[in-house]
Amino acid sequence: MLAIRRSSGALLALSLCILIVTAACGDGASPTATVATAPTATASAAATSTSTSGGTAATPTAGAETPTTAPESTATVSAAAPTATSTEATPSDATLTVYSGQHESLTKALADGFTKATGIKVEVRVGSDAELANQIIEEGDRAKADVFITEEPSQAGALDGRGLFEAVDPGTLAHVDGRFNPASGNWVAYAARSRVIFYNPDKISEAELPQSILDLANPEWKGKFAYAPSGAFTATVTYLINTIGEDATLEWLKGIKANGENLQKNGAIRDAVEAGQISFGLSNHYYWYILAQQQGGQDKLKSKVHYMSGGDPGALVLASGAGILKTSTHQAEAQRFLAWLTDADGGQQVIATTTPQYPLAPGVTSSMGLRPLDQLDPPAFDQGSLQDVSKARDLIIEAGIV
Ligand SMILES: [Fe+2]
Repeated sequence: MLAIRRSSGALLALSLCILIVTAACGDGASPTATVATAPTATASAAATSTSTSGGTAATPTAGAETPTTAPESTATVSAAAPTATSTEATPSDATLTVYSGQHESLTKALADGFTKATGIKVEVRVGSDAELANQIIEEGDRAKADVFITEEPSQAGALDGRGLFEAVDPGTLAHVDGRFNPASGNWVAYAARSRVIFYNPDKISEAELPQSILDLANPEWKGKFAYAPSGAFTATVTYLINTIGEDATLEWLKGIKANGENLQKNGAIRDAVEAGQISFGLSNHYYWYILAQQQGGQDKLKSKVHYMSGGDPGALVLASGAGILKTSTHQAEAQRFLAWLTDADGGQQVIATTTPQYPLAPGVTSSMGLRPLDQLDPPAFDQGSLQDVSKARDLIIEAGIV
């Protein structure tokens, strides 16, 4: 099923051990320590998480600077290691530590796939983007993470803005649709999600939906829609601050608060729309496709997905990012991880077959029945421009949403 390239080094994958220190995706689920060892013959199972995105509830704060300590692994980089853009397996004793804000099932599939392809073991710590970004900042020079992968662009940008990332190999950046890489080139986009509207045709027709999410501040929409202050919502607010200004964004948020129903989580929005409890809601596209999988097909669902057009902020496509910490003592392996993650024959195949999120390598198409990425009509912007979420957080609070 998967087309992950394999070579002799794949045999070393049998030693894979993934340590999941915290369980989470989005929404600040309480950390739960679990340990999973999981070398399997094929990289795996469909994502079934219904948690909401993001978790940018916290704004990274400066942590104490502390002296460098011994690295987690005693492995050294082999002189015979391949170039950064190669994903051919070369034996390595290194263990790469990846902090991941992504859905846990996708993170695990990616870690498994990378180890199978390269023989490099991966230790994963899973949490929300914001939790992990804060942790990296607080760890300072003692940071355990070699690589940070996120659900949303904001926290990758936040670490980049603090100068914590190494430059990504240009060959790796070239693996993916360049629209979604940050202008800095210090992290790479490896997946994406589109903001969409889920609607219930029994309650409202597609033609009756708002032309812009900015319209939702108008009284005519009162009681008609749901929203959730997720990471993607916060990213949208940051985008609005950058494009229409702080005052207009605050007014919009006050309108959202007055007119919409805050259901806290994207999954709850999807379920309420599906059940006909509300006409429509703002969410990320993939939550609907996950439910369609669970229910046995898209035609089994009452609700539908509406993709906004004309570069509306409701059509934002947000990149999931991967960056390498400057403090990493496994720079070569970390570059290989990013190269594999973005490789059309590597991590992009895992994304295409494991999750309804979008793969970003040209020529790789999701197997989840998504509307093709090139048929979406998102606004064009620098994904790195969403790095400062603090003002968005302030406005969301000021509007009374949280
Ligand atoms: Fe999510």
